[in-house]
Amino acid sequence: AGPCDIYASGGTPCIAAHSTTRALFDNFNGALYQVQRGSDGATTNISPRSAGGVANAGTQDSFCANTTCLITIIYDQTGRGNHLTQAPPGGFRGPEANGYDNLASATGAPVTLNGQKAYGVFISPGTGYRNNRVSGSATGDQSEGMYAVFDGTHYNGGCCFDYGNAETNSLDTGNGHMEALYFGTSTSWGSGAGSGPWVMADLENGLFSGVNVKQNTGDPTVNYRFLTAVLKGQPGNWALRGGNAASGSLSTYYNGARPNASGYNPMKKEGAIILGIGGDNSISAQGTFYEGVMTSGYPSDATENAVQANIVAAKYATTSLISGPTISVGSTVSFRATTSCCTTRYIAHTGSTVNTQVVTSSSSTSLKQQASWTVRTGLGNSACVSFESRDTPGSYIRHYDFNLVVNANDGTKVFAEDATFCPKAGLNGQGNTITSWSYPTRSWRHYNDVLSIASNGGVHTFDSTSLYNDDVSFIVTPGFA
Ligand code: AHR
Ligand code: AHR
Repeated sequence: AGPCDIYASGGTPCIAAHSTTRALFDNFNGALYQVQRGSDGATTNISPRSAGGVANAGTQDSFCANTTCLITIIYDQTGRGNHLTQAPPGGFRGPEANGYDNLASATGAPVTLNGQKAYGVFISPGTGYRNNRVSGSATGDQSEGMYAVFDGTHYNGGCCFDYGNAETNSLDTGNGHMEALYFGTSTSWGSGAGSGPWVMADLENGLFSGVNVKQNTGDPTVNYRFLTAVLKGQPGNWALRGGNAASGSLSTYYNGARPNASGYNPMKKEGAIILGIGGDNSISAQGTFYEGVMTSGYPSDATENAVQANIVAAKYATTSLISGPTISVGSTVSFRATTSCCTTRYIAHTGSTVNTQVVTSSSSTSLKQQASWTVRTGLGNSACVSFESRDTPGSYIRHYDFNLVVNANDGTKVFAEDATFCPKAGLNGQGNTITSWSYPTRSWRHYNDVLSIASNGGVHTFDSTSLYNDDVSFIVTPGFA
């Protein structure tokens, strides 16, 4: 049985079931999600390999070969049509045209389930999905439950990486108008034990870890690579639970009265569903979502424990984030452009600006050094790499406002993540495309001889689709110096 078969047996059926990695009903063999490719704008649906099974990542890989792909729809598997699509503007505007949020890369979160490859939903700041017209969700003080499987190592302190019940108009309509899972290190409202990240409940104008408005030390720091997070609410009572999605059982972090603040009892839930954002379309958070459901009725602990056993049996595991020609940690490299304009130009830096310059074996030593980079283990994720400046040790290539710059490592989490890149096979068939770990829709691109992390279409000039594949493909050579 799948998670939603288990919830149905417990008398608390799923009213929404979302996953890009697997079917959440035993007999589900419909579309799990839709991707759109950059080359021609065409879309296709990704379904399980067989009823109840793991997503057919091979369909996506062939459809997206030599181009980029975005996740456009995360389908609802319950038959209610509660699909998640690109979130519209609300209290906050997203970065895309007309204030819409970004869509997630279809390849940002590769995993395996029982050895079979699948892709999760990698949410960078600015990315969000939503459905403001949900059928069957809890409203007012009605009971509901939900769980989600997240990447417990991908988070930040921004507002708010959420999955769950939110406002139907994308605005902050007041305390108690949301009931959603939150995961991250925000301390603007509540917090738990240790330094986080924590699973908390976003109940609107507050992230709650228990009955106290601020800290509740019963809510532990959790950083399992695969994390099961559980939230449920019924009149006068709610609970937060969690555990390792790859082994073992759930723990109860809180079960008791509604928080000690006005507006949260009774609740005033509105019934929309959000993923990756706050109720008012706050877009500062990051995280990764693999699967999740919302139920009608308050699930028993026993039902949730059986769902956890089902998740563990799905055997989530990590897989490689890189492909293409090997770029070895410890080596010194240079990067040659492959666009026909520019095949004698190499990535170099002038002060903090990363650009391309013509470099040859007879160039000056200083220019050769400016165009050479030492490959380091990824500062923000050891499965990827970082590039230290040859002439300025301790300084690395990182993105800032989506421009590539060379900056001294300041030791912060955001620096480490901005300086982490996952090389892939070059999109034009040559060399490597160097994709940002933290914004996997974006890769190193030269545009007017300056480097940025660019998406294949988007609001910046450097996001132009013209020559995209060539501009993001670099031949990696031994370093000039
Ligand atoms: O409750 C925390 C956040 O506060 C909500 O997600 C958002 O709507 C508001 O800004
Ligand atoms: O480059 C995008 C973001 O801009 C970086 O993550 C951050 O450091 C800066 O605000």
